[in-house]
Amino acid sequence: MLLISASLARQIVSVSSPKPSGRASPHFIVVAPQASRYVCAVHLARLRLRDFRNYAKLDVDFTPGFHVLLGDNAQGKTNILESIYLLATLRSFRGVGGAQMIRHGQKGYFVGARAVSETEHTIRMFWSSAERQLTLDDQPVRRLTDYLGVLRTVVFCSEDLQLIKGTGRIRRRFMDLLLSQTHGAYLPLLQRYARALRSRNALLKQRAPDEQALDSFSQELARLGGGVLKLRHELVPRLSPLTRLAYRRISNDAEELRLEYAPSVQGDLAVELAKSRARERLFRSTLVGPHRDDLKLLLNDKSASQFGSEGQKRSIALALKMAQAEYLTGLAGAPPILLIDDVMGELDAKRRGGLLPLLERSHQARGQVFMTCTEETWPAELGRDLHRWTVQSGALRSGS
Ligand SMILES: Nc1ncnc2c1ncn2[C@@H]1O[C@H](COP(=O)(O)OP(=O)(O)OP(=O)(O)O)[C@@H](O)[C@H]1O
Ligand SMILES: [Mg+2]
Repeated sequence: MLLISASLARQIVSVSSPKPSGRASPHFIVVAPQASRYVCAVHLARLRLRDFRNYAKLDVDFTPGFHVLLGDNAQGKTNILESIYLLATLRSFRGVGGAQMIRHGQKGYFVGARAVSETEHTIRMFWSSAERQLTLDDQPVRRLTDYLGVLRTVVFCSEDLQLIKGTGRIRRRFMDLLLSQTHGAYLPLLQRYARALRSRNALLKQRAPDEQALDSFSQELARLGGGVLKLRHELVPRLSPLTRLAYRRISNDAEELRLEYAPSVQGDLAVELAKSRARERLFRSTLVGPHRDDLKLLLNDKSASQFGSEGQKRSIALALKMAQAEYLTGLAGAPPILLIDDVMGELDAKRRGGLLPLLERSHQARGQVFMTCTEETWPAELGRDLHRWTVQSGALRSGS
């Protein structure tokens, strides 16, 4: 079994960062296809955890459909969603590294799964500070692009608010994850860009950087960065109408939500890199390129992060995630697995109502939804067809 290198594990975590930290379709379907036209959705048929967070050992089978994880605070509901998201993206939506997910006092965690659609896949992942293993169908995963489409998820969680309140890095990650999930070529491109950027920055830190070496890294950066810019340029105008529609559905605002890609360079990256050389000498770092891009969130053309109310920011966060799910559904022809962490209870009736069609479509397509709540935050609208699980002290019990 191949050990995936530390850098491979790190790449997915920090692909948009300069520091170490599907497949494209020519046609974009704005509205999700009708149930009859869905291809078979992937569902998580089995989840296995060993020494993951507060789970010493868990082996559980899930059917397609709705799964509600009920339990008091601090029992391990979010930890389940975190493990599913980890399987899909190789990172935690809580923004933490592998060490934090190892059960206290243990050396490593194991997360395993069986993902079923028309085909079936077995995933095994082991992580410790000394060793990382990732296998798909008993074969070591050598390229992340071979792996990332196997399980697609969208998570709705309280951290989503950082998409509006946080730095550009979080919004870059949002774009990067979506492009990695849908464009096979994107992640390798981004990884090579991040590597070239690290080398170039290391050179700039030297007292007298070798100008020739700097030039060759600039060329490399311009070439790779150009590819990243192009795909981000294509993504945002496709995502923007989906986000606007989602926002309309969940908010009472008359305001129009619009996304605008804000690249750090407007013209040619090679030219801009050359222009910024004097400032680079001062800051000893590469100052322009995709690693400095942002995604603008505009309400009636005004910055939502600066002028939006708390409620508006919350709605935008939800709309972005709904748009992400619609986008993935449009491209893959089947809905992703939805992971909804304790947010239904926080939503007012209007926002909840806006989210329900997405859940409904997932239901029609025999997709899968995992939703956590405590008894108090249980939304009455979800009364039908669902599987209830009780979560208590790191154990899952069917029924309640
Ligand atoms: N690495 C770890 N090792 C052991 N236990 C952990 C680890 N990380 C978190 N926990 C425990 O997991 C529990 C929290 O799990 P989780 O966040 O899933 O709770 P929850 O059921 O979602 O609660 P809430 O309703 O408050 O969101 C806590 O008891 C915490 O101490
Ligand atoms: Mg929780």
